[in-house]
Amino acid sequence: MAEICLEAKDLCKTYIVDGLGNNVLQNINLKVEEGEFVSIMGPSGSGKSTLLYTISGMDDMTAGKVIFDGKDLSEMNDKQLTKMRLLKMGFIFQQMYMMKKLSIMDNIVLPGYQAGLLSRDEVNKKAEDLMRRLGIIETADREITEVSGGQLQRACLARALINSPKVLFADEPTGALNSKASMEVLGEMVKANELGTTVLMVTHSEKVAASSDRIIYLMDGDIQGELVLGKIGTPDDKSDNKSTAEILQIRERKLRKWLEEMGW
Ligand SMILES: Nc1ncnc2c1ncn2[C@@H]1O[C@H](COP(=O)(O)OP(=O)(O)OP(=O)(O)O)[C@@H](O)[C@H]1O
Ligand SMILES: [Mg+2]
Repeated sequence: MAEICLEAKDLCKTYIVDGLGNNVLQNINLKVEEGEFVSIMGPSGSGKSTLLYTISGMDDMTAGKVIFDGKDLSEMNDKQLTKMRLLKMGFIFQQMYMMKKLSIMDNIVLPGYQAGLLSRDEVNKKAEDLMRRLGIIETADREITEVSGGQLQRACLARALINSPKVLFADEPTGALNSKASMEVLGEMVKANELGTTVLMVTHSEKVAASSDRIIYLMDGDIQGELVLGKIGTPDDKSDNKSTAEILQIRERKLRKWLEEMGW
């Protein structure tokens, strides 16, 4: 069994609004193995984004523990958390926009410069390689308002991958994209996962989630169930020499049926 790289133990999050407590996450227990691609699904307001924020240390938890890469996040101070996020985590959050005054390239290299693990030349080269791989090299010098939604999302992915994170956290990375661009961005996330990055992604799309290894269903801040699909192309998938498109269709059907059972 692979190592656990991320674990939530009885994770709780309560928001206080107008003096009233809203228990948005209720005793979440979740283990993510190194190299896994996990999707979080569930109705709007069920706590998916909150789970991603608290489990990544972006937001504080009310109770419980998160162990990331063997370390207890609640025992880390802000400076240590910031460093950990910069070096070991990648983020694609819709609320976290790219810097408006910087070009696509400058946005991508910024966390690389901040991390200081590589020289600026090496970071630049890595950013160019990533942009080439993601098919956005021609947008390098453009402002972020001068590219399409799909290109911008791929740029966000390049920025999230610049420090070769252990875990990539993505909140609806394809939410604002048409189906072609969605599949392109998803394909790149699958590739990053194949290269060893663990992925924890929130999505509303069955088609997108069908590419993940495991799907967690969240409702009212509680994990209601999980569906294990395994990695695409495992022996089970391939038993009748099916094409990748057929395999994905079968996975999507299985997921849709399970989601219906969950009350989706
Ligand atoms: N900063 C906040 N302050 C107070 N309440 C919040 C805050 N952020 C989220 N909530 C509440 O927490 C609950 C869960 O919100 P969250 O954003 O995690 O849901 P979600 O599952 O991501 O929904 P969606 O699919 O619509 O993005 C909601 O009831 C929301 O109103
Ligand atoms: Mg959300």
